[in-house]
Amino acid sequence: MAKIIDGKVVSQFVKDGVKKEVEALGKKGVSVGLAVIIVGSDPASRTYVNNKKKACAEAGIISEEYALPEETTMQELLSLIKELNQKKSVNGILCQLPLPKHLDEKLVIENIDPKKDVDAFHAVNTGHIMIGDYSFLPCTPAGIMEMLDYYNIETQGKNAVVIGRSNIVGKPMAMLLLQKNATVTVCHSKTENLGEITRRADILVAAVGKEKFVTGDMIKDGAVVIDVGINRNGEGKLCGDVDFEQAEKKASYITPVPGGVGPMTIATLLKNTVTAAKLQNAIE
Ligand code: GUN
Repeated sequence: MAKIIDGKVVSQFVKDGVKKEVEALGKKGVSVGLAVIIVGSDPASRTYVNNKKKACAEAGIISEEYALPEETTMQELLSLIKELNQKKSVNGILCQLPLPKHLDEKLVIENIDPKKDVDAFHAVNTGHIMIGDYSFLPCTPAGIMEMLDYYNIETQGKNAVVIGRSNIVGKPMAMLLLQKNATVTVCHSKTENLGEITRRADILVAAVGKEKFVTGDMIKDGAVVIDVGINRNGEGKLCGDVDFEQAEKKASYITPVPGGVGPMTIATLLKNTVTAAKLQNAIE
C-alpha cells in the first residue's frame, strides 16, 4: 500500500517559512504585496482567487483584488496591468486564468512586468526556467518538487514520465525534473504505446485533465505517482487523473486529490511573491 504524500502538511511547512520571511522583511520596513486580477464570474476561478487571498492574509502578504466584469475590454485590462506594473506597493501581479474568450491571454501575460510575474508565465521567465537560472518558480511543478524533497524522494538517475505538455505544468515540470538529474520523458495525446512508457516510470506525473486516465496497469511497482488532475466525476466529486484505488496498490508514494498537489501551488505563489518583493527592494 502506498504512502500518502500530504500536500496540506508540506504546503503548511512552506507557508510557515514564507510567513517568517515576510516578518523579517517587515522589520526592514519592506511590505509584500500581491495584486490579483479576476475577470468575469467563473465559479472555479472565484474559489481559487479566494483561496489565494486567504493564504496571503495568513502569511502577512497584502493582497489587492481587482474584480472586473465579464465584458471588460482588452484595452481596459492592459491599462490596469500597466498601472499595477508601476505601482510600488504591488510586488506581484496574478491574472487568474482562464480569461473570457474575447480576451487574449497571451497578450495579457506578455504585458505583465516579468519582475512581477509571480506565475512565471511570461516568456522571459519561462526562458529563465529553461536555462536553469530563475527567480520565479512555475507554481504547480515547483510545488511538486517541494513535495518530493520533503519526503526525501530521490530524482537523480530515475526515470520520470510526465503525461501532459502544457505550458503551465507539463513543460516546466519536465525542466525541473531534468535539473534534478532525472531522465525525463514527456508524453501527450499523440503518444503511442503510452502504457509501455509509463510502466518504466519511477516517478509518474499525470497532468492530463481526464478522470481515471492513469490505471493501475500503467504503473510500475513501487513508483511515485503524482496526480495533478482536478476533475469532477459524474457525482460532482473532485477527482484526479489517476485511478487512486488501483494506483495505491502499486505505488510506493501517491498524492491524493484533493489534498495533494493543489495546496502546493498556492504555497509556491506566496514564495514567488516574497522573491519579487526582495528583487524589487534589492534584498538578497
Ligand atoms: N488558473 C489555473 N491555474 C492557474 C495558475 O496557476 N495561475 C493563474 N494565473 N491562473 C490559473
